[in-house]
Amino acid sequence: MKDTIDVQNTDPLFDTVISRLNTSSMKWDKYQGQDVLPMWVADMDFAVAAPIQQALQERLEHPVFGYTTAPESLNDAIADHLLAEYNWTIDKQWLVYLPGVVTGLAVACKGLCEDGDDIMVNPPIYHHFYDSHEDKRQNLIKVPLHKAGGRWTYNVPAMSEAVTDKTSMIMMCSPHNPTGTVFSHDELNAVAKMCKDNNMLMVSDEIHCDLVIDKKSRHIPTAVACPEYADHIITLMSGSKTWNLAGLNTSFAIISNPAVREAFCAAAKSIVPLVPPLAYVATEAAYKDAQEWRSKLLDYLAGNFELISREVAAMPGLSLEPLSATYLAWIDATELGMDNTQQFFEENGVGLSSGEQFGQPQYLRLNFACPRSVLKEGLARMAKALAKS
Ligand SMILES: Cc1ncc(COP(=O)(O)O)c(C=O)c1O
Repeated sequence: MKDTIDVQNTDPLFDTVISRLNTSSMKWDKYQGQDVLPMWVADMDFAVAAPIQQALQERLEHPVFGYTTAPESLNDAIADHLLAEYNWTIDKQWLVYLPGVVTGLAVACKGLCEDGDDIMVNPPIYHHFYDSHEDKRQNLIKVPLHKAGGRWTYNVPAMSEAVTDKTSMIMMCSPHNPTGTVFSHDELNAVAKMCKDNNMLMVSDEIHCDLVIDKKSRHIPTAVACPEYADHIITLMSGSKTWNLAGLNTSFAIISNPAVREAFCAAAKSIVPLVPPLAYVATEAAYKDAQEWRSKLLDYLAGNFELISREVAAMPGLSLEPLSATYLAWIDATELGMDNTQQFFEENGVGLSSGEQFGQPQYLRLNFACPRSVLKEGLARMAKALAKS
């Protein structure tokens, strides 16, 4: 990738505007019949990589879609990817397939926490972290992230302080949605050490790991950063964000500790369905044959983020947080002084996510995984709305 991205210099792979109308898209149908550009829920408006579509088409030639388990070739593809990208050698026995990462969060709470336990979460955070446990069984302890070195990160002293003798688990998100932070080795180690000292398990949601768009940052799986604590970690990953497969329902947990894995699988029994056969096919093609596509995607997203940085800098009352990973820009709208900025922009043709959902109501989240022309239009609408307000 070039050091300075020319926002005019686009990639035909991602420039094409594909209408998602009449596909029952959750993102687009929210504003059906209205002139509002949807930039909220985290899926991308890009076509999947050609090798994924081809693999799916080939599988569709076979007309039977019965219960299916993960092929060994998929286990290999994931193990190879983790080794190549993160220098993480896993035993394929550690893999537990799930139809979604959110399912993994809920199964971990159900299977590995006792009644009356406290679970730690760190706002702002992806909203399902707040509702994956059962209110009647467990209690959430919320310890906000804080700003250090200009970016959002874990406040480990405050976390240590907040731990109770019932705190048995932390749900951590790395890279982080919605702030876009990629955590350093030291940051991950500090959280892991705090958990180890307090005998806590960790669920490490790393769904955005393959979406690091800042070339100076590198994702480190928590289990790699802290090998001595790895047996207390349930890592959740998926190709769904990076390769735009969210509707195919596929993800996996990596659990090295056999007892933890057994309790996790027992909690999933009779509740969690098998992953659909097409999901396995798409995921395998993604890891094996769509890495070049991913690299182009990361460049394109970096260009989109640079465009947002320039445009938002010129918008009074808005301030953009730095972002190293994800395609979700986190924008501080405090200075606008409005009661409901999400509604304000929606009424002006841009459908953003409200920060309230993530626990920081004065913020907005903008999904920029769309063709650059659409992003330009969305940003122009935001600028126009502010100019006339
Ligand atoms: C941190 C995080 N975890 C989980 C999910 C959803 O995962 P899934 O669709 O596999 O349940 C998202 C979606 O945006 C996310 O950002």
